[in-house]
Amino acid sequence: MVVSESDLTSEYRHIPVMLGEVLETLSPRDGDVVCDCTLGGAGHSLELGRRCSPSGLLIGIDQDDVALAAAGERIRANVPEVASLQLKGNFSQLDGLLQRAQVPGVDCFLFDLGVSSPQLDVPERGFSYHEDAPLDMRMDPGTQTLTAAEVINTYSEADLTRILRAYGEERWASRIAQFVVRRRAHAPIQTTMQLVEVIKDAIPASQRREGGHHPARKTFQALRIEVNHELDALEAGLQSAIRWLNPGGRIAVISYHSLEDRIVKNVFRQRSQGCTCPPDLPVCVCGNVPVIELGERKPRVPSPDEIANNPRARSAKLRSATKLAG
Ligand SMILES: C[S@@+](CC[C@H](N)C(=O)[O-])C[C@H]1O[C@@H](n2cnc3c(N)ncnc32)[C@H](O)[C@@H]1O
Repeated sequence: MVVSESDLTSEYRHIPVMLGEVLETLSPRDGDVVCDCTLGGAGHSLELGRRCSPSGLLIGIDQDDVALAAAGERIRANVPEVASLQLKGNFSQLDGLLQRAQVPGVDCFLFDLGVSSPQLDVPERGFSYHEDAPLDMRMDPGTQTLTAAEVINTYSEADLTRILRAYGEERWASRIAQFVVRRRAHAPIQTTMQLVEVIKDAIPASQRREGGHHPARKTFQALRIEVNHELDALEAGLQSAIRWLNPGGRIAVISYHSLEDRIVKNVFRQRSQGCTCPPDLPVCVCGNVPVIELGERKPRVPSPDEIANNPRARSAKLRSATKLAG
């Protein structure tokens, strides 16, 4: 059985992306240890749990307390037969989380990156450029102190330009940074809509709807990545997950923008390569041995039907790998 939208609680409504492809790629079996590193609303986890039950273990990690509590309830209500653990934390700390849970090894890892629909839909979280709210964007407000407001109001113009360019791939990075600095000299920029206004003023009218997207999309992406250190966390999480995989175990990663996808591609490529020493060296000095085998060379993408049904799936890319024996 595959989860339907009506299964989703009204409190935590998130349609799992590329669910069929994830199940096919990870193919969990009874007895497997499955670790969903981005539990969210447990949309993927419910199905993974059904497949590894009754004797498997379903571990779900999320840094968001609200998501974790709602997901735990859904798993206990919908897949009571599977042993499950919900672990609060950042997947960049995967080693510590799995060690403390005394997990011997993992057969299937899933990373479904980014924010979930409820995080976007609750205006107070400050992730959405459609709703007015304080500029926050912390995925773990209980632990993190840096907010998007602090970035916007305290970073230098050069640093703002750098993060908008690097994390948002924003063509108008320096103009937006310049307008932000000019505006905050009068009064701090405190809310999402104040920032949207500044961004709209900075981008020439004819260029504001490039590719049909909202003009603030790239700036908000960049701020979210900076506030949550998302790219560093991803690299660390993937490296740990590969270490924890049992031989023959599978890892699947769904990314939503090119910066994330590049990191997944590079980590997978690096860990699937053997010796990279120049051919004229008499002995290997790099010590690289392949530890995973890549899934398909090109990432899988959602079907047109899925995108029509769930527009949030439209930029998804799924990459996978299998741990080699030995
Ligand atoms: C796209 S949602 C996952 C949705 C889930 N697959 C489902 O179908 O319901 C991503 C989730 O991962 C969490 N998350 C993002 N980055 C994280 C990190 N570095 N460590 C732990 N959780 C993270 C977010 O809080 C969010 O709940």
